[in-house]
Amino acid sequence: MDKIKLIEITARLMESPKGILAIDESLLTCGKRFETLGVPNTEEKRRDYRELLVTAPDIEKYISGYIFFDETIKQFTKEKRTFTSILQTKGVNIGIKVDQGLTDLSLHPGEKITQGLDGLSERLKEYKNMGATFAKWRAVYTIGENTPSEDCMRENARVLGKYAALCQEFSIVPIIEPEVLIDGDHNIEKCYEVTSKNFDIIFAEMWKLGVFIPGVILKTSMILPGKDAAEKASPEKIAEATLRCLKAHVPVGIGGIVFLSGGQADEDATLNLNAMHQGEPLPWPLTFSYGRAIQNPALQSWAKNPEDINSAQELLVQMARNNSLASIGEYKK
Ligand code: G3H
Repeated sequence: MDKIKLIEITARLMESPKGILAIDESLLTCGKRFETLGVPNTEEKRRDYRELLVTAPDIEKYISGYIFFDETIKQFTKEKRTFTSILQTKGVNIGIKVDQGLTDLSLHPGEKITQGLDGLSERLKEYKNMGATFAKWRAVYTIGENTPSEDCMRENARVLGKYAALCQEFSIVPIIEPEVLIDGDHNIEKCYEVTSKNFDIIFAEMWKLGVFIPGVILKTSMILPGKDAAEKASPEKIAEATLRCLKAHVPVGIGGIVFLSGGQADEDATLNLNAMHQGEPLPWPLTFSYGRAIQNPALQSWAKNPEDINSAQELLVQMARNNSLASIGEYKK
């Protein structure tokens, strides 16, 4: 493992006032998003859409890295340039989702474990040759009456730790993404409690496996009430609970922390991040790594008018800019 290289990549990704754009939807997830807008889920359509995301003018002012899916890291523009080379020319880091999705956790109804460790070394080698400097692995936890179980947290932590250690052997920065789902009617305190316990388990495992923490980025859900909760929370309350949780349960030496948007309304994700940057300087760089909360308006515009690439790109860059402002506490509604 080349620690200096890991620190350099982490610093480039966390450079203020930028964040990371996730365009790593699996074929299935992409299909679901397209379906609601009446777009057929073909390789050609996915390529056309992703080309506009990759070639958006000036997006590099707000975005330090793009996370690709296996199909996308290998795709080309209509002019036969690889997507990766377009981004590299703009100084944007190439990331790749390397997990292979969720499967049922045996004997734990309703709970999931993330798969993809098989053959991971070979895939990391291949992606590194394609220019990837960082990777992402997502684990998912559902808040319910008896979930997430400690077994689910421990199993996922074990896999996250192995993935992170392997990435670092290749000097690829691992983003670890434990996502506590927004689904449910739980209150914000419950989300705090589950997320805190999960962080404790994850970082104990990282420590045990010798993962180099300054060369890791944590991609987390915010501390939020469930989307069907009776009581909603203000950005100030969400910011206070999220920062309290991160300060108490994430090692201070972590390379950086980024948020997923996780099905929040687009602007809520921006306002919540903005609220986290209103107080004292934070112990770690803290920014966004949104998918939907940046892509939504651009995707809707393109689905309606596929020929009008400019309007879709303007919307994409506008959303990236709003979140860039939020990452320094300067976004105004
Ligand atoms: O794994 C999820 C993506 O990387 C982030 O997507 O912001 O739409 O939740 P999201």
